[in-house]
Amino acid sequence: MSEIVVRSQKPLFGSVRISGAKNAALPILAATLLSSSPSLLHDIPPLSDVANMLEILRNLGCVIATLPDGSVEITAEHILSREATFEQTGRLRASFLVAGPLLARFHKCRIALPGGCKIGTRPVDLHLKGFSALGATVAIRHGYVEAECTGLAGASIYLDFPSVGATENIMMAACLATGQTVIENAAVEPEIADLATFLNRMGAQVRGAGTDTIKINGVHSLSGAEHTIIPDRIEAGTYMVAAAITGGRVQVENIVPEHIKPLAAKMREMGVQIQETATTALIEAGEELFPTDIKTLPFPGFPTDMQSQLCALMTRANGTGIITETVFENRFMYVEELKRMGADITIEGRAAVVKGRRPLMGTKVLATDLRAGAALVLAGLAAEGETRILQPEHIFRGYAALPEKLKALGADICVL
Ligand code: UD1
Repeated sequence: MSEIVVRSQKPLFGSVRISGAKNAALPILAATLLSSSPSLLHDIPPLSDVANMLEILRNLGCVIATLPDGSVEITAEHILSREATFEQTGRLRASFLVAGPLLARFHKCRIALPGGCKIGTRPVDLHLKGFSALGATVAIRHGYVEAECTGLAGASIYLDFPSVGATENIMMAACLATGQTVIENAAVEPEIADLATFLNRMGAQVRGAGTDTIKINGVHSLSGAEHTIIPDRIEAGTYMVAAAITGGRVQVENIVPEHIKPLAAKMREMGVQIQETATTALIEAGEELFPTDIKTLPFPGFPTDMQSQLCALMTRANGTGIITETVFENRFMYVEELKRMGADITIEGRAAVVKGRRPLMGTKVLATDLRAGAALVLAGLAAEGETRILQPEHIFRGYAALPEKLKALGADICVL
């Protein structure tokens, strides 16, 4: 698989079902390590990031069965290893989420510093501070994080920044610590609440997930649980933009309206009509697209993971908009690629100034990371001629069956 080719300038019509959320599935897969009995997970999205996480769990000793409906059963009874190598963790940053569960249940882990999208330095210092506060000895040696303890003890932890991964890792570790852990300035993303729901089904006592103060009363042991992953709000947002950028009308199914609110508000401001029910959103392009300004922030602010896709939409607006990225320091790499398609975008520090209405023309472009790739597919849907997106494997890290889903909506798209 080396290229995605997008050829259409046609409006998209129809309906699309959103898969389970990658960013909820990955921590929940890691959390299955906390128990020796089986967990059954539904709506695990078929993504390469998920396959890589399953591979890491298998290497640790988990027994994994994929059922015909795509559900996954994981049993972490005989965990033989406490280690994840760079060959395993280099492929996805979320691999570091096995550290908290391993430390909590086996009092030891050795995890290579993780990889993932190249969108900034992405340190793990907040995760490590949390583990230390819970009583672990933590060191970095030869590119590996080595952590051990005789047992974790509840603590009060204030995060300097509401990091999603650090909140998840500390929350999982604290489930088997003695006493109470309080995480303040915790991340409030919906995926944190979904992880807490799963942990509580396993028998954990986690309260306040989804707010900035999470309290965890440690328990002696956890058992496996059954859980359905929440829908992917970023995948949903990407199809919402696909409908708008092509001037189409698309029903996005399996969504949680509350989760897409920050994006929906901005798209409405741009003149896109959005009608929601409890689980769907009907997206209809307006007569005209108006420019807007966005600033990425932790939830419920505008999601950094939708920044590049909204930029693609802003290239079609009838004026100038400004995008300010505050979460990651290097998340404008896709801009050079959009410019090669004809977009007029200037980067000024952490901001991108997008002048709309310049004609987009298809050409060869490079998917530098997952969401960058999504933005280029969206731009390709609105561009004249053929857009060839190289390194599409980045896109398949986070979008289940993207070419197939777009094709079903009428796009001329294929993978070569
Ligand atoms: C998660 C998401 C990712 C999303 C991001 C922000 C998953 C698997 N990935 O990533 O798609 O873009 O949230 O919504 O859920 N930071 C530190 N020290 C740390 C941890 C983070 O400085 O120990 C910084 C990062 O460099 C970054 C910011 O905090 O600038 C946000 O990172 P974080 O919230 O941790 O994102 P991830 O969990 O990596």
